[in-house]
Amino acid sequence: MLADDTAIALAEKHVAHNYSPLPVVAASAEGAWITDVDGRRYLDCLAAYSAVNFGHRHPEIIATAHAQLDRVTLVSRAFHSDRLGPFCAELAQLCGKDVVLPMNSGAEAVESALKVARKWGVDVKGVPTDRAKIIVADNNFHGRTISIVSFSSDPVARGGFGPFTPGFCSVPFGDTAALAAAIDDDTVAVLLEPIQGEAGIIVPPDDYLPAVRALCRGRNVLMIADEIQSGLARTGHTFACDHWGVVPDVYLLGKALGGGVVPLSAVVADRDILSVLHPGEHGSTFGGNPLAAAIGSTVVTILNRGEFQHRSAELGTRLHQGLATLIGRGVTAVRGLGLWAGVDIDPALGSGKQLSLRLAERGVLVKDTHEWTLRFAPPLVITAAEIDWVVGQFAAALREAHN
Ligand SMILES: Cc1ncc(COP(=O)(O)O)c(C=O)c1O
Repeated sequence: MLADDTAIALAEKHVAHNYSPLPVVAASAEGAWITDVDGRRYLDCLAAYSAVNFGHRHPEIIATAHAQLDRVTLVSRAFHSDRLGPFCAELAQLCGKDVVLPMNSGAEAVESALKVARKWGVDVKGVPTDRAKIIVADNNFHGRTISIVSFSSDPVARGGFGPFTPGFCSVPFGDTAALAAAIDDDTVAVLLEPIQGEAGIIVPPDDYLPAVRALCRGRNVLMIADEIQSGLARTGHTFACDHWGVVPDVYLLGKALGGGVVPLSAVVADRDILSVLHPGEHGSTFGGNPLAAAIGSTVVTILNRGEFQHRSAELGTRLHQGLATLIGRGVTAVRGLGLWAGVDIDPALGSGKQLSLRLAERGVLVKDTHEWTLRFAPPLVITAAEIDWVVGQFAAALREAHN
């Protein structure tokens, strides 16, 4: 048995059915491992969609959280805290930018950036009021709010949720000519995931992001990189954009920024962009709270050491080499960078969901994205031996599905 029937039965009855979780009931977790209520251990190859990049309950992050819990946790932005300024200074420096707008969830960071881009368009670029246009990519995933699903191409994300927010235009991901053609005088920003996560870990052609960078600069348009899932060491660099030597105008960060402990997201940009916001124009009661800011500082300290970027690059090569051996044995394609892999399954073997259930029986937790793709994104503390074990279990699950 995989799960505690009581916990699952209660969830079925009392939790909104906006997810379809695997029947695994976590009771505790450490490093790359989750233990369920019956004491079964699972190697976590999802890492809470990359929010647990540094491992479950990373000792330095947990120590920071404990210490801060004993001092002060929330004052709102009506007052200063001794944590927020230092955290924002450290994060801005990590990003090579001046200013941080702290928020909570990833979707909030995206929403905040949309507002900043529109306001920048009016105040700085001189776009007429209510005409600002933001260009996004087909098959994007930036969150679940009304404005964000307004520019989603996923019918499940949009169905029944209209009317939608106007002012967006979507072009094929990876297609520079389509992007160039879509930019007009009212365009204020291009919003992209440097590597599309939910779409199946889609890595763009090597010339794409540098071309987007040049286009945005040439047409006075903000380049906004949503690094909420791809950033903070996941792909072997601090930011996925680093693979192509690209520095966007605006970084959107979330997930791992909160160390797997608290929701913490941020819009990071230079002063000439973020200074379009004045008191009262934007905010969040919990945004930048002392507990989150203290944890964020520790996350930045860890990232400044570079150990996880290095681990992800080195162990990612091992993961990708291992997964590549399964092409033709139930796997049709493997994509990604660092410890982040999208694996397409031969539909003859069943859906991604069915395969993830087989893997859970074998002690490996992964999640499907779309019908036939599995995402491998383990905490970056995973070891080489554990990666080999995961690949072995995956090979065995594919053989089992074949029989
Ligand atoms: C690229 C990207 N942007 C934004 C979000 C939304 O983040 P959150 O779920 O914290 O709102 C996600 C979540 O998966 C994401 O992958």
